Amino acid sequence: HAPDAWLATPSRWPDVPALRRAHASHKGSRGDVVVVGGQLPSASDGVGMAGAAVLAARAALRAGAGRVYVGLLNGEATLPPWDGGQPALMLRTAQAVLASALPEQAVVVAGCGGGASMAEVLPALLARAPRLVLDADALNALGPAAREGARSPAAPGDPWALRRAAGWRTVLTPHPLEAARLLGTDVAGVQADRLGAARALAHRLGATIVLKGSGTVIAAPDGAPIVNASGDGLLASAGTGDVLAGLIGARLAHGDANDLPAAIAEAVAAHGGLTQRWTGAWPPTATDLLD
Ligand code: APR
Ligand code: MG
Repeated sequence: HAPDAWLATPSRWPDVPALRRAHASHKGSRGDVVVVGGQLPSASDGVGMAGAAVLAARAALRAGAGRVYVGLLNGEATLPPWDGGQPALMLRTAQAVLASALPEQAVVVAGCGGGASMAEVLPALLARAPRLVLDADALNALGPAAREGARSPAAPGDPWALRRAAGWRTVLTPHPLEAARLLGTDVAGVQADRLGAARALAHRLGATIVLKGSGTVIAAPDGAPIVNASGDGLLASAGTGDVLAGLIGARLAHGDANDLPAAIAEAVAAHGGLTQRWTGAWPPTATDLLD
């Protein structure tokens, strides 16, 4: 179905040079990942999704990021003091993350479980994060400017034009419904031409698109898209997308200077390979993927 695309094959977690720099390695040299999302419940609606951000952050840590920060969006619930399952994560509020200087080389992964509050922090992230992965509610919070794409000439202060001019890297990881919302179409329209949908978004935003689902497509504004061959229906379980966002964040934090789509494809291939090697009697959960 994809004669004009590269086909990626399942692989082990890539042999990343930055992880093998032997004795000279330190946590700073392995890259920082900052996850912003995870709506804590509020008393008025009782809806919380903090676990999604924690899954992405745990995945980034397991994949070898040197330091991982989590900025949770507060409802009215108190911030948990630490993640009992992974105490190495540094939990803060999203406001505290934004009030501090973002580590210069950090990769920011935004949107996992962010809910409606994601819209409040997204403009600051677009303006400040040179390497930004947008997932889930960060995609849903993208305004009409993003949906309409590059305007020429760009309106003053258009964050997309500014990011492109600065050479900043933006990665979007939509599932088919999220892609359909961005394209102003429906899921059937996206699935009928997955390569075309991913390419259209890449051109429109000057960003790298990871269109998820069976046969995940990685498309940059230039070059042939990559189609991932790994993974199966065992991945169809809540939270596996958040794990992928964290894996991509860690992979980029290890250094993505040469070939961004290829680096992302390594993470996507490794993520799919996790369920293909699953030997449990019952289907894996997102936390099983981390283990
Ligand atoms: N074959 C290969 N890969 C698959 C398959 C399949 N049959 N099914 C799912 N996957 C992979 C996708 O490619 C993606 O990497 O599993 C992951 C699922 O990611 P998402 O669709 O983002 O799901 P997730 O975020 O984990 O959970 C659903 O998304 O719409 C939001 O808020 C909603 O909480 C919900 C969340
Ligand atoms: Mg998702």
